[in-house]
Amino acid sequence: MHDKHQEFFDAAAAEWDLTYTAEDLERLTHIVDKLNMAEGMDILDLGCGTGILFDMLRRKVTGSGTVTGVDFSIEMARKAHRNFPFDNVNVVDADATALPFADGSFDVAVAFAAFPHFSDQQKAIDEVHRVLKSGAKFHIIHLESAREISRVHHEIGGVVAHDEIPTDTTLREMFDHSQFMSATIEDHPGLYLATAVNSR
Ligand SMILES: C[S@@+](CC[C@H](N)C(=O)[O-])C[C@H]1O[C@@H](n2cnc3c(N)ncnc32)[C@H](O)[C@@H]1O
Repeated sequence: MHDKHQEFFDAAAAEWDLTYTAEDLERLTHIVDKLNMAEGMDILDLGCGTGILFDMLRRKVTGSGTVTGVDFSIEMARKAHRNFPFDNVNVVDADATALPFADGSFDVAVAFAAFPHFSDQQKAIDEVHRVLKSGAKFHIIHLESAREISRVHHEIGGVVAHDEIPTDTTLREMFDHSQFMSATIEDHPGLYLATAVNSR
C-alpha cells in the first residue's frame, strides 16, 4: 500500500540532500562519535532517507562491517542507493514496522529524524528489538528537542503536521513493552537522543 507519508517523502527525495547545513552535519558527526560504534559492526539505519548518515556510519564500521538503510519511500531509497554504491552499504525499500531481516541481525540501530513519522511506533520498536542482537542499542536521534520537532512538523503541516516524539513516559513504556532496557532520554534545545538496550 502506498500511503500519504510515502507520497510526501517520495516528492521530497529529489531535493532532500539540500536539507542539512554543514553545521548540522558537524553536530550529527559529534553525536554519532559518542555512540560507541566500532569496526566490524552491522548497523541498521531506519528511515535512512537519501543516506545522510551513511558516510559517518561507514567510517565507524570500516570495510569489515555493514550499513543497512531502510526507507519506505522508493524515491528516497533509490537516491540513497545511488549516493552510496558500496559493497558494504545496503538499501532496502521496506517499512520500519515490518522489517525484512532475521532475528538478531544487527549490532546497532539508529533512527535519525525519522521516528515521529512511523505510523505505528510501538510496532517499529518491536521490530527493532527483534532484529537487534542481545545487548545491542537502539538510538533515536534528532538535532532538535521533542518540542522543536513538533513545532516544525506543525509548521510544515499536511501529513506530517501531527508527527511527534512520544512523551518520555510513553516512550519508556514502549521500550519496556518490547523488552528494551536501560532507556535514557536527552531532550533539550538542539538535541533529542533516546537510547535503549536490547535485553534479549
Ligand atoms: C524526515 S526524513 C529523514 C531521512 C533521513 N534519516 C535524514 O535525516 O536525512 C524521514 C524518513 O523516514 C522515512 N519513513 C517514514 N516512515 C517510515 C516507515 N514507516 N518505514 C520506513 N521509512 C519511513 C521517510 O520515507 C523519510 O525518508
